Amino acid sequence: MNIEKNQAARMAVEKIQNNSVVGLGSGSTAAIFIRLLAEKVKKEHMNIVCVATSIKSGELGSSLGLKVVDIDDVSSIDVTVDGADEVDYDLNGIKGGGAALLFEKIVASKSKYNIWIIDSSKFHKKLGNFKLPVEVIKFGSQRIFDCLQEMGLNPTYRLNDDSTRLLTDSSNYIIDIDIQHVSDLKSLSNALENLTGVVEHGLFINICNELLIGGLKKDIKRSE
Ligand code: 5RP
Repeated sequence: MNIEKNQAARMAVEKIQNNSVVGLGSGSTAAIFIRLLAEKVKKEHMNIVCVATSIKSGELGSSLGLKVVDIDDVSSIDVTVDGADEVDYDLNGIKGGGAALLFEKIVASKSKYNIWIIDSSKFHKKLGNFKLPVEVIKFGSQRIFDCLQEMGLNPTYRLNDDSTRLLTDSSNYIIDIDIQHVSDLKSLSNALENLTGVVEHGLFINICNELLIGGLKKDIKRSE
């Protein structure tokens, strides 16, 4: 699938215009995009300012010579290019497989245009193959876990290789839930947002403007 990720990232980098503010996504596909963007900026002497969706992506961008600034140092972001874990035919998606969903959603919400780059295995009629990440604050997280259990969503804490609980860039936990049997995603999104202690979840509804699928070489724009 790396070839497909590469293709999608190449399609995206061609869309980046000079004198723009670009959001750098997180994950392996976004990392390919960041490398290609750094090459393009150097080769074409472009004036690009970047905002990162994770510490890792910011460090990668800076190490390659991109100008990465704090999100609060820009008034808006022209375009953000990010990966996704699963996308449906309406361009809604699940993100957060790399635990960066909180910053990703904040950067996306400050972006005028959001492009997602994926390989063809992630494009499905209905979301739910991938577990939905829910970012929760540590304090009292077991209560949220129990609520999610009662909702029939089979929660599991995301763990590190050494079985300790994974911490996000904001020092929160991730609880992954199974949404295969959920038909109304908007209601689920509202229900999760109403649970005190939930910081964010990885359902990205009506956020992606354009989806680039490697392999299929498809470029799908959201119909307004
Ligand atoms: C990180 C994300 C990533 O965009 C998503 O996990 C896709 O990653 P990859 O490109 O490595 O498959 O949401 O939080």
